[in-house]
Amino acid sequence: MKIGILGGGQLGRMLLQSAANYPVEVSVMEKDPECPSAKLCHHFVLGDINHFEEVIAFGKELDALTIEIENVNIDALFELEKMGVRIIPRPAALKTIKNKILQKEFYKSHQIPSSEFHITNGKEELNDHLHFLPAVHKLATGGYDGKGVQLLHGKDDLQHGFDGPAVLEKMVPIEKEIAITVAVAENGTNAIYPPVEMVFDPVLNLLDYQICPAKISDKTLWKAEAMAIAVARNLKSPGLFAVEMFVDKEGNVWVNETAPRVHNSGHHTIEAHYSSQFDMLWRIILNYPLGNTHQILSSIMVNIIGAEGYSGTAMYEGLEDVLSIPDAFVHLYGKKETKPGRKMGHATIISNDHQELLHQANKIKHTLIVKGDKKI
Ligand SMILES: Nc1ncnc2c1ncn2[C@@H]1O[C@H](COP(=O)(O)OP(=O)(O)OP(=O)(O)O)[C@@H](O)[C@H]1O
Ligand SMILES: [Mg+2]
Repeated sequence: MKIGILGGGQLGRMLLQSAANYPVEVSVMEKDPECPSAKLCHHFVLGDINHFEEVIAFGKELDALTIEIENVNIDALFELEKMGVRIIPRPAALKTIKNKILQKEFYKSHQIPSSEFHITNGKEELNDHLHFLPAVHKLATGGYDGKGVQLLHGKDDLQHGFDGPAVLEKMVPIEKEIAITVAVAENGTNAIYPPVEMVFDPVLNLLDYQICPAKISDKTLWKAEAMAIAVARNLKSPGLFAVEMFVDKEGNVWVNETAPRVHNSGHHTIEAHYSSQFDMLWRIILNYPLGNTHQILSSIMVNIIGAEGYSGTAMYEGLEDVLSIPDAFVHLYGKKETKPGRKMGHATIISNDHQELLHQANKIKHTLIVKGDKKI
């Protein structure tokens, strides 16, 4: 089978590592010739995943096409679908998710709990919603890794709002942030991964580390699982769906957003689960039976991000120390250039001893430091 991936970042790279286990020939399209996926695929095509003709030219000879980022040319995907190329996820599902306005309307129309919202088209419109604060302003399209999200606590923060189509969501009093990934096969059968709990860096608004399984009550788990399945079912598409949710102080569960692809919240599944999220997506694409989502051991995943104060060619301090931790697995993404906050790799620790997981995660966070050759 000839399969294509739009986008060549770390998610594509880890998909390629799993692809090596299957009878598949993989092409990647990306505009950066030095991207993390460039050297691991069978065919690398330099191109713009947002350009209609380039995506058509890339996809038309393939059996199936998937994505590792939502920001792709959807019209081209609809066209390729008409030409008989299997697109996973379906372009219609991707279109709903890609635009945060459509995504919020999707949850609302399917009675899936998600925080209340207003649509805004410019900064000045925020003044009409002063009574709605504290709220979170999110650009409809183009945001990633927390860029394109602004917390608006009060009137003084309105200047940080976005000028352009966006959603203004009620701020949820978050107790925990969790994510559940649902795998949906072409024939509609599905499999669900255990919940992960995400802990964020409040300064960078970027994921700090993530624990699996999340420490939540059975009742919260049942609610969250039912909601994640409702999201995946109603998108009416095969694929992997990582559903990010908030558990509030009263135990209510709210869907935050969904990624219709492999996702940062599933990296631990490489070592900690029988079938990783990457393995699972190949099974879906190639129409094989779904894999086993059960965990082998509990885990923590730490993102390895570019240190503050440095940019330029990446250098890894403390790598040997971290590699000598027996239950830790290090993944570096092969990015030549570092900058503050850039995701450069991740490490997963597996153990059924919760204290041990936390201890090793903190050790890794403070030992493995990515610096660049330029001080900034
Ligand atoms: N309605 C909300 N109430 C409270 N906090 C929120 C709300 N929406 C978002 N946040 C906070 O902002 C973070 C980023 O928001 P969101 O996940 O929508 O953006 P993103 O750009 O897609 O980020 P990422 O790509 O890292 O997932 C959330 O993980 C959460 O901590
Ligand atoms: Mg998010």
